[in-house]
Amino acid sequence: MQSEIRKTLLEVFSNAKGEFISGQKLSEQLGCSRTAVWKHIEDLRNEGYELEAVRKLGYRILSKPDKISCNEIQLGLETDTLGRNVYFEETVTSTQKIAHRLAYEGAVEGTVVVAEEQTSGRGRLDRSWYSPKHTGIWMSIILRPSIPPSRAPQLTLLTAVAVVQAIQEVTGLEPDIKWPNDILLQQKKVVGILTELQAETERINSVIIGIGINVNQERIHFPEELSSIATSLRLEKGEPVDRAKLIQCILLKIEKLYKEYMQHGFKIVKLLWESYSTSIGKHIVARTLTGSIEGKAIGITDEGVLLIEDLTGKIHQIYSADIEI
Ligand code: BTN
Repeated sequence: MQSEIRKTLLEVFSNAKGEFISGQKLSEQLGCSRTAVWKHIEDLRNEGYELEAVRKLGYRILSKPDKISCNEIQLGLETDTLGRNVYFEETVTSTQKIAHRLAYEGAVEGTVVVAEEQTSGRGRLDRSWYSPKHTGIWMSIILRPSIPPSRAPQLTLLTAVAVVQAIQEVTGLEPDIKWPNDILLQQKKVVGILTELQAETERINSVIIGIGINVNQERIHFPEELSSIATSLRLEKGEPVDRAKLIQCILLKIEKLYKEYMQHGFKIVKLLWESYSTSIGKHIVARTLTGSIEGKAIGITDEGVLLIEDLTGKIHQIYSADIEI
């Protein structure tokens, strides 16, 4: 189907919010004959849209396929910049890799790279990130903030807050954040965030924020090594979640917080992050590359560094570690 007509047709159905639209009206809005409208409707059905046709009433949309595409992401998107430029591919090695290339080539701030599947998804600390087809959200966002590179970790915390807020709004679930960037439900990981930089000593060229969310996996979809530590929104909610809607909500929440952050600094993000965090106030073990530190997590610094007070009262600054609660 020609992409412009398809876009208009989906827009008309989306605005109708499940109500019938007559064939006559559709043919006027699309600027084509009623036979052509019928053909476009058939094309949409073949793509997995469920459409009801009733004589004298017209057509209405009953359900959309659980697919993500540029159209699905951009239709109804309320942001000013984030997601206004979407690069979508069915299968990629890693959305981070593509976003790095696009950023290097000059992609505008807010460009989003999304894929249905990643064959070499990357996690923190050089780990791999399991990214099977059609069940998750695998996306990378390009930002170009004028802040020093040392402040970049704050954007990871900002993203974590925005993703928690979006999950709350779309699913009603109440996730927690585990420092620095894991989002958990029932103590199992549901979201991972990976922030990478293209920077010079004093100045950031771009920040690539990678977000991986287990959305519609069933228990059998997880490989054995992940099944006791990972979960999905669908498993916790008991029903599938609309991935395109969740992406839209995440982009809007990030954009709002990012504007606030660029205007007024890290304060609000820090307060929100601490309110969602499971680590603060608890006795934890931080396993770093050079050893373990045990004590009470007392907060984060303005740079997003975790502070742990050990049994002797000494305060340790943790930049990178795995946390056990
Ligand atoms: C973590 O280790 O918790 C971070 C995982 C980040 C995964 C996302 S999925 C989209 C983007 N592309 C990648 O290759 N990684 C990030």
